[in-house]
Amino acid sequence: MCGIIGCCSNHNVLHNTINGLKKLEYRGYDSCGITFLLNKEFHTFKSIKRIEDLSKNINIDGGLAIAHTRWATHGKVSLDNAHPIYSSDKKYIIVHNGIIENYLKIKDTYLKEYIFYTETDTEVIINLIDYLNKKCTMLESIKRLYEILEGTYACLIIDKNEDKIYFIKNKSPLILGFSNELIITSDILALPKNTKKYYRLKDGDYGYITKDTYSLFNINDQNHFLFLDYYPLNYDISLKGFKHYMEKEIYEIPDLLHNYINKKYENRIINTLKNSNKIYLVASGTSFNAASLGALFFSQISKKESYAFISSEFQIDNTYDDKAIFVVISQSGETADLIKAISKIKKKNYEVIAICNVENSTIKEMSDYFININAGVEIAVASTKSYTLSSLVMYQLANIIVDNDYKEKLTDIVDNISSIFDVKDKIKKIASYISNKEHLYYLGKGIDYLLCNEASLKLKEISYIHSESFPSGELKHGSIALISSSSIVIGIITDPSNANLIRNSLEEVKSRGAKTYVISLESLSLDSDSIIIKDFDKYLSFIPISIIIQLLAYFTALNLGNDIDKPRNLAKSVTVE
Ligand code: AGP
Repeated sequence: MCGIIGCCSNHNVLHNTINGLKKLEYRGYDSCGITFLLNKEFHTFKSIKRIEDLSKNINIDGGLAIAHTRWATHGKVSLDNAHPIYSSDKKYIIVHNGIIENYLKIKDTYLKEYIFYTETDTEVIINLIDYLNKKCTMLESIKRLYEILEGTYACLIIDKNEDKIYFIKNKSPLILGFSNELIITSDILALPKNTKKYYRLKDGDYGYITKDTYSLFNINDQNHFLFLDYYPLNYDISLKGFKHYMEKEIYEIPDLLHNYINKKYENRIINTLKNSNKIYLVASGTSFNAASLGALFFSQISKKESYAFISSEFQIDNTYDDKAIFVVISQSGETADLIKAISKIKKKNYEVIAICNVENSTIKEMSDYFININAGVEIAVASTKSYTLSSLVMYQLANIIVDNDYKEKLTDIVDNISSIFDVKDKIKKIASYISNKEHLYYLGKGIDYLLCNEASLKLKEISYIHSESFPSGELKHGSIALISSSSIVIGIITDPSNANLIRNSLEEVKSRGAKTYVISLESLSLDSDSIIIKDFDKYLSFIPISIIIQLLAYFTALNLGNDIDKPRNLAKSVTVE
C-alpha cells in the first residue's frame, strides 16, 4: 500500500530517495511521484507506471525531496491523483499515506473557496494547510491538523518558501532516520544502509526536518522520543536465479524449517498461554488462515478453547473471560485492520502475543509479547513462507504448553520436505489445465478445509481465477448447485478421520460432471489421486500441503503471464482500513 519518503541533505538526494522508493515497491502501488524543492520552486515528476519509468523522466537533482508510491483509495489511478499533490495556489505540496474520513466535511467547513484538481482526500489536507497557515505559523498549522482530521495519516508537507519537510503521524507508520542526511519514511526498509539511528514516530508526533537538524514535538507534550540504534537489515533481495520472489520464497521454506527444530520460546509467553483458559486469535487474509490453523492446534492439541477472528470483523464485548489471551498474527506488522483490533483488545486490558515477521513494527510495539517468525523479508505480495512459519509457531506453542514432545515429528518433516518439489511437474500439469478456466473449488474437512481456504485465497490473488473453498459436508447445503460439467474441484485429504467424507463429496461433484483433482497423503491415497505425498504427522501436513498449494497458484499465474509478485489491486502491507 502507499509508501512515503522524504530526504533533506546538503548533498543531492535523488539517489537515496529513488532507492528508498524502490524498496517500498513491494508494498504494492499503482502510481508514483517525486517533488524536489530547488530555489523556492517545486519540480514534480509522476508516473502511472513503475518507478523505473518515473526515474527515466527525472532531469534534476537537489537537496530536498518528497516521494510517494500510491495505492489508489480515493480517485482513480491517474497522473493528477498521483502524489505529491499541490495546494490549489501551488504554495504547498504533500505526500500522504492513509485515509481522511471526514474530507467532505472539511471541504464544506473550511475550503469552499478552494479549487480542487484531484479526486483525492489528500488534496483536502494540503488546502487546509494553506487555509490554516494564513492565521498561524506552519508548525502550528500542522499541529492543528490533529484537531480537524479524522482518519489515518502520515504526511510529509513542504512550504515552498522553507527548506524543510514537515511531518505528522496518526495511525500510519512513519520513521525518522539519521544517515548522511535526514530521511523520513513509512517503512524501515527504505532507510539507506548507512543509517545510524532511527526513531519510530508515535501517534501525535509532528515536526520538521531540515538539511542539518530536526524538530520533534508531540501534541500531548510527552517527552518520550526514543532513538534507537539502526542495524542495516540483512535481507537478501536478489532473485537468486528464480523468476519471481514468490517462487524464491516458497523454495526458502525447507531451509527456514531447520531453524525451528530447536526454536526456544520465552518462558513468560509459554506461562501466559499455559495460564490462559481461552485463546483468541486475530488476523487478516493469509494470516487469518494461519490463525485458523492455530485455533485448531490450540483446541485439539492443547485442549484450550480457541477461536480465530478476522481482524476487520473483530468486535470485543464483555463476554471474554478474565483469563483469555489474544494472539495476533501478521506478516507485515502494519495491517490497519489488525492494529484497530489490537487497540480494542488493549482497551479491555487483555494481553496480546504478536506472531510477526517484522521486528520493528507497529504491531510488535502494541503487543505485550512478540514472537518473530524470522522468515526473512517476504517481498511477493502473496504471502507464502510467512503462512507456513507462523502456522508452525502455533503448532509448536500448542505442543509446548502441554509438554508434548513434537521434535521427532518435526525433524521427520525437516529431513524430507525438500522432496516435495519432486511433484513439481504434477503441479504444473494441474496448473496448465486450470489456467484457462474461470472458476475453481477446493473441498476439504477439518484441518483440510482450513488448508483449502488458503489454497483458494492464494490462487485467486495471483491468477485472478474465481476460487472458493467449501467444507465438504456443507456442499450439499447449497453450493453444489454451482457444479456442472465445466467445474473443477480440488480435494485435499490429509486427515484420516475425514478422508472418507471428503471422498464422498468428491464423488458427488464427479457424478454431476465436475473434473476432480485430489492431493492426498500416501496412506489415504487412491491410485487415481493427482498428487500423493509421504505421510507426515496429521497436524504437520500443513507444511508440505502449503508448499503444493502455493506452487499451484504460482504456476497457474505464470501460465497466465500475470505480474506474480505485484498482483493487480493488491498491496503487501495493507495500511488502510
Ligand atoms: C497474503 O497473500 C495476502 N497478501 C494478504 O491476505 C495478507 O495476508 C493480509 O493482508 C494480512 O497481512 P499481514 O499478514 O501483513 O497482517
